[in-house]
Amino acid sequence: MTNRILDVKHLKIDFHTYGGDVKAIRDVSFHLDPGETLAIVGESGSGKSVTTRSVIGLLAKNAQVMGGEINFHGQNLLQLKEKQWQKIRGNEIAMIFQDPMTSLDPTMKIGQQIAEPLIKHRGTSKKEAWVKALEMMRAVGIPHPEERINEYPHQFSGGMRQRIVIAIALICEPEILLADEPTTALDVTVQAEILDLMKDLQKRVKTSIIFITHDLGVVAGMADRVAVMYAGELMEYGTVDDIFYNPQHPYTWGLINSMPTLHLGTD
Ligand SMILES: Nc1ncnc2c1ncn2[C@@H]1O[C@H](COP(=O)(O)OP(=O)(O)OP(=O)(O)O)[C@@H](O)[C@H]1O
Ligand SMILES: [Mg+2]
Repeated sequence: MTNRILDVKHLKIDFHTYGGDVKAIRDVSFHLDPGETLAIVGESGSGKSVTTRSVIGLLAKNAQVMGGEINFHGQNLLQLKEKQWQKIRGNEIAMIFQDPMTSLDPTMKIGQQIAEPLIKHRGTSKKEAWVKALEMMRAVGIPHPEERINEYPHQFSGGMRQRIVIAIALICEPEILLADEPTTALDVTVQAEILDLMKDLQKRVKTSIIFITHDLGVVAGMADRVAVMYAGELMEYGTVDDIFYNPQHPYTWGLINSMPTLHLGTD
């Protein structure tokens, strides 16, 4: 029995809208052990992003938590005030979004953006944080970091920007990294490189990852366990082998059968 770092129990989230209340998350429970990767899969609108955002305290204003707990080292994150969240977000729990441009500041040098979490959370001096930012740029595979550290986001390609976002997310060595479809905006070769990079850094930084994807091929390569969401509920929850070889729910069957790699032998 390992010590869980995250334990989500019976989470329920509604959204208030003009059309009435939407039950987006209906009694979802899952956990995360140190160093493991949990993949969340499921169709569009099934609640993957809302679930993940709740773990980092970034729910929309019209969201209301109707019940449940999100325990992080035994502390229920749902009870935190914004001030307390600011100590955890980007420090112990970090997030990578799908589109790197939304999380990068176009007016700031990337060196500053990578160094900032260290200065904010760790009280690292500017000079030392700059050195660490350079190291991190090397670790995420940005060529010529000494020159590029002074450049701005628009000077980088999409894949390089996502590497920068990963550098920012991992610089404080968070215990949990949330990745909401971090590679879907990238072309296939770059996708594969970024996934390899994430796996590599996960070992170094010893972070646990919640990885959202539509792609079961990515799940097979990245995850230890899988949660399949459908209409705000967890349809299936188990190891990658459980889900691939013994899916219980017709929805999961459909998902597995629509994987291109599984058609290769039969077409
Ligand atoms: N701010 C909001 N107001 C109202 N409803 C919302 C809001 N945010 C999300 N929802 C609803 O909550 C449900 C879950 O949304 P969520 O973004 O988690 O889906 P998802 O699984 O991440 O989908 P996708 O794969 O398209 O990213 C959807 O029905 C969505 O319409
Ligand atoms: Mg989403």
